[in-house]
Amino acid sequence: MNDQVLLELTGVSKTYSQARDSAAAVLDDISLTIPAGQAVAIVGPSGSGKSTLLNLIGALDRPTSGTVRLGGRDLTTLKAAQLAEIRRSRIGFVFQQHHLLPQCTVLENVLLPALASGSVGADSSGRAVELLKRVALADRADDKPPLLSGGERQRVALARALINAPSLLLADEPTGSLDRQTSESLIELLVELNRSEGTTLIVVTHSSDLAGRMDRVMELRDGTLSELETSR
Ligand SMILES: Nc1ncnc2c1ncn2[C@@H]1O[C@H](COP(=O)(O)OP(=O)(O)O)[C@@H](O)[C@H]1O
Ligand SMILES: [Mg+2]
Repeated sequence: MNDQVLLELTGVSKTYSQARDSAAAVLDDISLTIPAGQAVAIVGPSGSGKSTLLNLIGALDRPTSGTVRLGGRDLTTLKAAQLAEIRRSRIGFVFQQHHLLPQCTVLENVLLPALASGSVGADSSGRAVELLKRVALADRADDKPPLLSGGERQRVALARALINAPSLLLADEPTGSLDRQTSESLIELLVELNRSEGTTLIVVTHSSDLAGRMDRVMELRDGTLSELETSR
């Protein structure tokens, strides 16, 4: 890990205008600094705003007030097309559901984000194969997702999230739909990728196993974020 700041949230608040109680802020004046290479868990009760926070960090949504800086750039001042470019080139996403395309092969699914950024060539095909090896699915490259188990699909989703070599990997309850043993192998993989590639990792999770493997655990509650003591 180095001391370079990758992500900096300053005074971030989020209110959904269409919510039933539209005066209530889901996120209330949150500030957070994450150095490049750090692995962070975000925990908190259901409905506390964890996905909302991840969506703001991932440039999928904008805060009502405050700033989100990624690699020094203030995302809140950028236009939609610029945000899309940052999402493609710098951020990988893994969700609870894998969102793989069932009609495409495993290899094609991994290559999709590279296709979207117009950069599919021998390079990205080679990287896709490498990533499938990393997630122990090289032999399933030509299969389609419906033939895979839940854990295998989630590993494909992880390889897909990494194809454009993002500096930030965001995972929203990535083990939420997996059984314990399958979860454990995915957790190992996330930790190993963070260590070996230096990819900054932010994981929303209900799993104390997963949270316990991160460098830092933050709890979101009543709109505010606080650091939990960790044993590491
Ligand atoms: N697009 C939306 N429009 C209105 N309210 C929303 C929207 N997304 C989330 N919310 C509300 O914001 C709160 C936090 O939701 P969420 O971020 O999904 O929490 P978590 O991921 O911690 O379960 C909830 O009360 C939810 O109903
Ligand atoms: Mg959520």
